[in-house]
Amino acid sequence: MSDDIPGANGQTIPNGMLQDNYPRNMWWVAAHRDEVTTKPMMRWLLETPVVLYRHEDGTPAALYDRCPHRWAPLSEGHVAGDKIVCPYHGMEFDRSGTCTKAPTQHMKPKTATIPSFAVKEAGAYIWVWMGDQDAIDCDPPEVGYQVDPNWTPVNGYYEVAANWVLIRENVLDLTHIAFLHKNTFKQDDWITAPDTYMDGETVCYEQEFDLAPLSPLFCAGMGLPEDKPIKRVQKGRMPSLAISFSDWNVHDPNPEPGRRSDFIVRGCHIVTPAQRGRTHYFWMAAFDVPELTDEVAEKTRKSVTAAFDEDKHLLEKLQANVEADPRGLDFLEVTLGADGAGIRVRQILNKKLKAEGRAL
Ligand code: FES
Ligand SMILES: [Fe+2]
Repeated sequence: MSDDIPGANGQTIPNGMLQDNYPRNMWWVAAHRDEVTTKPMMRWLLETPVVLYRHEDGTPAALYDRCPHRWAPLSEGHVAGDKIVCPYHGMEFDRSGTCTKAPTQHMKPKTATIPSFAVKEAGAYIWVWMGDQDAIDCDPPEVGYQVDPNWTPVNGYYEVAANWVLIRENVLDLTHIAFLHKNTFKQDDWITAPDTYMDGETVCYEQEFDLAPLSPLFCAGMGLPEDKPIKRVQKGRMPSLAISFSDWNVHDPNPEPGRRSDFIVRGCHIVTPAQRGRTHYFWMAAFDVPELTDEVAEKTRKSVTAAFDEDKHLLEKLQANVEADPRGLDFLEVTLGADGAGIRVRQILNKKLKAEGRAL
């Protein structure tokens, strides 16, 4: 990490892990696209109960999950055409949250509206903009590879009892892999951190490794023996606080006859604040291999999950300790040279909050 990054010399940049520390005016992932159907579902997003559903034509929608009549959860109701129907007394609402029918009377109550949120389907996920609906100035990050038939995705989901920023920093903090994941990732050459740099608003890193066995997590997906030395270039990008990618570019210098020598597995880490101290964590490991067998996909899912269980366990303990400690955030926090990417996360977070007139 270069010395021009605040934090490199012990300067504190807060991450607000016990606070309301999530920017509103950006795209966050609400769900995997397969989760959202014409059967409404409820999910806490940015401390807001949200009902997610699809119209009968497949269009996704997101509304505050509280009917304005007697506050029944619309997620217990049903979809009729392009309306959602409240389960309690049958009031209907369109995707803008406007009441289009109150069955018990002829007049539609003019005040009966619900906050609605912009929704976009991009790649394998449904994205929502929970903040100022007039401030939408971009699309969700480009994730077309997630639905490209030349790639095979393996994905999973956790609800983690920790603030979202701890997970966001964790997935960009690479030196923990050699320690916390020594029995799962087994990528024990990763004890030096890459330099990070900015490409516009995107945090990036790139790091090249000498010949070494590849983490067993990804060997099955690439059809490589677990003890075969390969070259690897790690490339990472965080285009938004909501999502980051970690590409494992693998080169086999001695492929078996007729076998490929180069592969990519693209890790994708998505975090969305749920309730205070709780986070949705969606992950994906996508191989640039058109068809992985179900057996290989399941093996990969199990081994990645075993590794991410280790992060979940540690971060939940960390959060619980800090929450219960009367010192709260008022305690020494040391920054090491390896924390460059995490410091950039904090810088971006503080800048975004400032732009919304908030501060940590
Ligand atoms: S609570 Fe929804 S219609 Fe009465
Ligand atoms: Fe980890």
